[in-house]
Amino acid sequence: MWLGAHPVTYPLVRGIARLGPVVRVPRVGVVVSDAALAREVLLDTERFTKTGPGSPADLWTPVVGPSVLLNMEGRAHARLRRTLSGLFTPRAVGELCARVAAPQLGELRAELAAGRAVDVVAAAKRLAGAVIAELVGLDPLRAAEAFAAASAITGVVQLARPRLTAQQVAQGRAALARLTGPAVTAYRAGDPATVPGRMRELGLTEEEALGAVAAFALTGTETLVSYVPRLAALAAGSGWLERLAADPSWTDAVIAEGLRVTVPSPVMLRSVTAPARIGGTAVRPGERVVIATVSAAQGGDRRFDPQRRPAQQVAGLWFGAGPHFCLGMPLALAEIRALLDVLVTAAPLEIVRRRVARRVLIPGYRELLVRRRACGMS
Ligand code: HEM
Repeated sequence: MWLGAHPVTYPLVRGIARLGPVVRVPRVGVVVSDAALAREVLLDTERFTKTGPGSPADLWTPVVGPSVLLNMEGRAHARLRRTLSGLFTPRAVGELCARVAAPQLGELRAELAAGRAVDVVAAAKRLAGAVIAELVGLDPLRAAEAFAAASAITGVVQLARPRLTAQQVAQGRAALARLTGPAVTAYRAGDPATVPGRMRELGLTEEEALGAVAAFALTGTETLVSYVPRLAALAAGSGWLERLAADPSWTDAVIAEGLRVTVPSPVMLRSVTAPARIGGTAVRPGERVVIATVSAAQGGDRRFDPQRRPAQQVAGLWFGAGPHFCLGMPLALAEIRALLDVLVTAAPLEIVRRRVARRVLIPGYRELLVRRRACGMS
């Protein structure tokens, strides 16, 4: 799967991890493949930033503007995050999932119960699209449109290219406008039943609300559409779906181990602002640091075993660390749980067909067809 997405870059990343925990690679940056060192970098905001040369800000700001959390630092960043955190409380996430996920997943549940084959990738796209539609103030029935727009924004990025071309910037902006258009309308209407309306109520300016919409679209769609089908394949293929049906208390461990093995956010970027050391390696201002989360989380062991207890440094690293830790984690986990629950209810499942997505930013399936296994066929 990784080779399908990044036939050149992925073997390079793995090879670099074998060379050492911190390796300077010409034209790429200083690659960090160790979990403890990755955390040190993410927590050290004095020396490492998301806004300098080669950082995410360099990449995204031309498309999404200057205030989308993931290209901000310092007090403005902290304030925006604090304000937005009201959208991701357990209550807010629970209500959002009940409103959006439940209707989306009803159809999937019925199809599986009827013994028909379903495509988990399509189901994940519908779910993530409906959630994004809700976040930008679009009707959840326009989930496909919201998903297509969000994925067109992330689709312009390639791992090997640190900057976007003028054409990619234009494409990204056009896709973003399809999401921010409805968000502006919802914000101006100020109805707290819509998320942009709530953002206004929380005290965000229109520009900040649109920045948040862009941040959610960038971070909250491809990650889930990559992850959920991969988790489904891992859990179905290893017998864990049936185990979860018998004992749901393992759910969080299964989801966390799936994230450790698949790492849907394979890389995090930082720019060096002051002379520093990462492990034994000295780094200079202006250098780019590439945190290979995929190598750091897997630590050379890609076996899916929910009974393992990952080292403290590794646990949760797939959601980042420090001030930029994934703001949407509660929502991401709720969406993953909701879809996994439907699959567990239908277990045992057989995988009818799987096709890997080629040349995409985040590795994943293009199609994963599963069907309820008839009794006596196991
Ligand atoms: C499995 C799914 C997800 C994974 C693995 C994931 C992972 C991450 C990671 C690693 C970061 C930090 C990047 C860095 O420090 O450079 C991040 C940031 C972020 N994520 Fe997620 N994410 C997921 C889903 C979501 C969802 C569903 C949303 C909300 C709609 C979301 C919203 C955000 C936001 C807003 C940030 C930026 C936070 C900031 O810069 O302060 N994420 N995510």
